[in-house]
Amino acid sequence: MKEIRVGIIGGGMISHRHMVIYENIQKNAELLGFTAKVVAVAEIIPERLAAWREQYGFDKKDLYTDFRELLKRDDIDTIDVCVHNNYHTPISIMAMKAGFDVYCEKPSAASYHDAKLMMDCAAKLGRKFHVQISSLMSPQTRVACDMIASGRIGTPYFVNIEQLTRRRRPGYDIPNFTSDFYSKRIAGHAAAIDLGIYVVGQILYILGQPKLQSVSGFATRGVEIDPKLITNPDGYGVEDISDGFAKFENGMGLHFLAATAMNYKDYSMTYVLGSKGGLEIINTDTVGGKFARPGMGRPAWGGEPELKFYGEMDGRHVTMELNCDENGIIEARKDPRMMMFNDNQIMWLAYKLGLLDDSTRYNTPDIALQQLLFTDGIFLSQELGRSVTADEIVAMSPTLFIPEQKIGNEIVKFDVGF
Ligand SMILES: NC(=O)c1ccc[n+]([C@@H]2O[C@H](COP(=O)([O-])OP(=O)(O)OC[C@H]3O[C@@H](n4cnc5c(N)ncnc54)[C@H](O)[C@@H]3O)[C@@H](O)[C@H]2O)c1
Repeated sequence: MKEIRVGIIGGGMISHRHMVIYENIQKNAELLGFTAKVVAVAEIIPERLAAWREQYGFDKKDLYTDFRELLKRDDIDTIDVCVHNNYHTPISIMAMKAGFDVYCEKPSAASYHDAKLMMDCAAKLGRKFHVQISSLMSPQTRVACDMIASGRIGTPYFVNIEQLTRRRRPGYDIPNFTSDFYSKRIAGHAAAIDLGIYVVGQILYILGQPKLQSVSGFATRGVEIDPKLITNPDGYGVEDISDGFAKFENGMGLHFLAATAMNYKDYSMTYVLGSKGGLEIINTDTVGGKFARPGMGRPAWGGEPELKFYGEMDGRHVTMELNCDENGIIEARKDPRMMMFNDNQIMWLAYKLGLLDDSTRYNTPDIALQQLLFTDGIFLSQELGRSVTADEIVAMSPTLFIPEQKIGNEIVKFDVGF
């Protein structure tokens, strides 16, 4: 049985969900034909590191406060990057430079520039690189692609995505999340990238990654902040609402509105309009599929990702539910290899092992990059007070990654040259 040995960098909230997935992979190893084992973890906060000893029984020698020590090991096959957004670029690049293939949490970075740097590094050094985008990893995505490929909705011409919550600022309204989510220095941006990667990334993939032409955007922080609730030393620096309208070279329009706080009710909707029919994307998966759930049970959030088709039959309007989850179960029973497309980490391991290649895996770094091109456009348009072209966004995309960090008593300058 092939076993991939994993080193995790960043032992906070999301790394524990990654552990649930690795544990479920081990339980399903026979079906998958391979397995994975986390053999080392790096985390700068010693108390968080101690949890890995207590919770999973890690030996002290496999736990590091300085990730550069972990990168010196020669018994690790891949690095799983679980630090926060603006650390993704330097830590992924340093891991690649140390000889490792890298699986990185979403968003790949907070700007197009930084995400491109990671991809360029992987290409130059010949490393495999993959980004967590759970919304792609469900039968919902495959069924939507098939509906479009079979011509059922005709020519797609408009997409509307609205993801709004009355109060759901991670780390502020929901304190069990890290307050780094609202630090501009560490997170870069809020829902535009945090949710954007899932909802916009999925749509761009389903629509065959159309080429962006221009973006007109708006972003601000509208809702008052209570200074007494601020726990992050950087303060509250991110927007709470962003809105963008993108035009694509194929003539398609896309509208994306996201808010983490507003004085209105929670709601979310995603739909694609085509010349012959429409598709509604219901319950976009922003958490992870069955492998991310302890016991592989029912989802902890809204419900399974599903689709609705709005079309015509015999000249009459029809609305059909596509039962993606049910079909996904049947699909995986008929061909267990379909499991590779239902979980990020399984896809990553399969890609690592050569069971999937660049033509068969989801090209998550590129999907993430295209999403960031759009998001950068929203913020650039807001800054310049006009719509911006794709070429302008590429030229003006900011460097947001953090260049140095205090680790123990040392200020470590990240070496990102390659
Ligand atoms: N929390 C979630 O539900 C969730 C869901 C999906 C994706 N994500 C993504 O996962 C990433 C991490 O989010 P999180 O919620 O786990 O944050 P977190 O703060 O809980 O975890 C990040 C950890 O990285 C550690 N760290 C920072 N620099 C380090 C370094 N140089 N070496 C080792 N460790 C270092 C921090 O101390 C922290 O414990 C973010 O990019 C986020 O967007 C989070």
